[in-house]
Amino acid sequence: MKSLRVGIIGLGVGEGHIAGYQSHPDCEVVALCDFSDDKLAMAKRQYPGIRLTSKADELLHDPDIDIVSIASYDNYHYQQIVQAIENDKHIFVEKPLCLYENEAAHIRQLLQQKPALKMSSNLILRLSPRFLQLKRMITDGKLGQLFYVEGDYNYGRLHKITEGWRGKIDFYSVVYGGAVHLVDLLLWLTGDRIVEVAAYGNAIASRGKGFRYNDMVVSILKFKSGLIGKVAANFGCVYPHFHALSIYGTRATFVNGLEHATLFESRDPAQTGKKITTPYPGIEKGELIYSFVESILGRSPAEVTVEDIFQTMSVCFAIEKATHQSDSVMVTYI
Ligand SMILES: NC(=O)c1ccc[n+]([C@@H]2O[C@H](COP(=O)([O-])OP(=O)(O)OC[C@H]3O[C@@H](n4cnc5c(N)ncnc54)[C@H](O)[C@@H]3O)[C@@H](O)[C@H]2O)c1
Repeated sequence: MKSLRVGIIGLGVGEGHIAGYQSHPDCEVVALCDFSDDKLAMAKRQYPGIRLTSKADELLHDPDIDIVSIASYDNYHYQQIVQAIENDKHIFVEKPLCLYENEAAHIRQLLQQKPALKMSSNLILRLSPRFLQLKRMITDGKLGQLFYVEGDYNYGRLHKITEGWRGKIDFYSVVYGGAVHLVDLLLWLTGDRIVEVAAYGNAIASRGKGFRYNDMVVSILKFKSGLIGKVAANFGCVYPHFHALSIYGTRATFVNGLEHATLFESRDPAQTGKKITTPYPGIEKGELIYSFVESILGRSPAEVTVEDIFQTMSVCFAIEKATHQSDSVMVTYI
C-alpha cells in the first residue's frame, strides 16, 4: 500500500490534481467527490477503482485519508479546510484560500495548533518555465535593481462570471479569483513585501448581466524596499486569457507578450530587445502537488508554503478593502 492516501473534492480543475498525485510514487488517490451527477458519471468511466462520493463530509471524516485536495467553489474552501484540519489531514487548496480575512485568521490559528499538518495552494504561475527563467535573471542581477513591476490578469472569459457559479455564490472577488495569481507572482519574483495598497474597481463590462461585484479591479502597490507596482484583475476584457507582466529594473526590462516575452537591455531605440520563447504558461494544473507531497514527507519545502499563502491573501484582502474606500490601505499580515 502507498504511504499517503488522497481524496479530492471538486472535479473541475480538481481533476487536474489527480495526475499531480499520481506522479508521486508515495501517493494514491483513493476517493473523488463532486456533487454533480454528471461529474461522478464521468469519474466512474475515467477513473475506475477510485471510490466516488457526492458528499465532501464523508471524505473529510474518513480516517484512512491523509491528504485532501480542495477544488470546490470558493465559498466552500474555508469550511472544508477547517474540517480537514480538525480531522488531521494535509491540505492542498485551490486559490483563493478563503473569502474573508477572519476566516484566514482562523485557519492560521488552527494550523498553529497542529504544526505537523502541511498546507499548500495552487498558485501555479511560479512553475511556469518563462517566469522561472525571469526569477533566475532577477536573482542573478541581470535586471539590476527593480523599481516598477506590474501584472495584469486578463481573464478574457466574461461568461464565467456572468453565467457560471462565480456569479451565483454569495460573494465573488476578481481579486481573490484572478489578481491573486499576479500578487503571488510579484511577491515571489521580487522577494519583497507589499506594505500598502490603493485600488479602484468597476463593473462596466458585466453591466446588466447579473454579476453583482466588480469585474475590473486595478491596484497600486507600495513595497517595503521602495519598489512600486500595479496589479489588475480584468475579467471583462476582450482579450485572450493572459498574464501580462512587465518588470522594470535599472539594467533591463522584461515584458511578457502574447507571442513571446522580450528582454530589453538597452535604451537605444535601434535595439529591439531579446526574444524569450521559454514556454508560458507551460504547466499543468496539478504540477505543484509533487513538491507539496515532498514537504509532507519532510524531504523539502513545498514550492508554495503556508507563509506564502497567507502573505498573498493578506495583500488581496487589503486590495479588496481598498476598492471600497478612497484611502489607501496598509496591509495587515495574517
Ligand atoms: N489554480 C488555478 O489556476 C485555478 C484555475 C481554475 C479554478 N481554480 C479554482 O478551483 C476551484 C474550482 O473552480 P473550477 O474552475 O474547477 O470550477 P468548475 O465549475 O469547473 O468545477 C468545480 C467542480 O466542483 C464541484 N463542487 C463545487 N463545490 C463542491 C462541493 N462543496 N462538494 C462537492 N463538489 C463540489 C462542482 O460540481 C464542479 O464539478 C475554485 O476555487 C477556483 O478558484 C483555480
